[in-house]
Amino acid sequence: MMPVMPIPSPTPDDIDIVTLPPDRWEAYRDLRLTALRAEPIAFSEPYDRAAARTLEEWRRRLIDPTNWVVFAERGDTLVGLAAAYVIPDEPTAVHIVSVYVDASVRQRGVGRRILSSLIQRVAASSAAVTLRLGVLDTNAAAIALYASLGFAVVGEQHDVVHHTGRAYDELIMERPLRSQHG
Ligand SMILES: CC(C)(COP(=O)(O)OP(=O)(O)OC[C@H]1O[C@@H](n2cnc3c(N)ncnc32)[C@H](O)[C@@H]1OP(=O)(O)O)[C@@H](O)C(=O)NCCC(=O)NCCS
Repeated sequence: MMPVMPIPSPTPDDIDIVTLPPDRWEAYRDLRLTALRAEPIAFSEPYDRAAARTLEEWRRRLIDPTNWVVFAERGDTLVGLAAAYVIPDEPTAVHIVSVYVDASVRQRGVGRRILSSLIQRVAASSAAVTLRLGVLDTNAAAIALYASLGFAVVGEQHDVVHHTGRAYDELIMERPLRSQHG
C-alpha cells in the first residue's frame, strides 16, 4: 500500500513579498477585483469603478514612481497586496490603500510583511514624511495590524463607505514614514 503523504500546510515561508513587472498587470487586476468582491465593505472604491479601469491604467500603477504596489505571492498565485500613492495636494504625505490578504493565509504575518516592505520602499524613494490611511472603525483586524506598525488614530470621517444602503465611518490613522517600527 502506498504511504499517505501529509499535505504540507502553507507557512509564511511559502509566501514571497514581491513587486510585479508591468506585464503582470492582469494578475494585479484580478487580485484587486477579487478583494473588492470578497470584502466590499473594507474598501471605499466601488467594484465597478475598478473593473472599468483600462489595461494602461493598471500597467501605469505598476511603474509610476509616485505609486507603489507590493504583493504576497505563493507559487505563481498572488495572495495579498497593498498600495501607496503620493497625495497630489499634499506631497509630504503618502496614502496607503488596497490592503488585502486572501482569507486562506490570514493571521500568519503576511499583512504585516506586505506593509513593512511597502513602507520600506516608499521611505527609500520618496521625500514624504507622513503615512496616512483610512480604515472602517469596525475593522478590528486591520486597526490592530496598523497599530502594530505604529499607526495612531488622528481623526474620523463619516459616511465614507456605502454598502447595501448602509453608510460606514472611517478612522484616519497616521505615522511618520520613517520610524522605529520599520
Ligand atoms: C486586515 C488584513 C489585511 C490582515 O492581514 P493578515 O495577514 O491576516 O495580518 P497579520 O497576520 O500580518 O497580522 C498582523 C497583526 O494584525 C492584527 N490582526 C490580524 N488579524 C487579526 C484579527 N483577525 N483579529 C485581531 N487582530 C488581528 C494582530 O495585531 C496581528 O499581530 P499578531 O499576529 O502579532 O497578534 C486581512 O485580515 C484582510 O485582508 N482583511 C480584509 C480586507 C481588509 O479589511 N483590508 C483593510 C482595509 S483598510
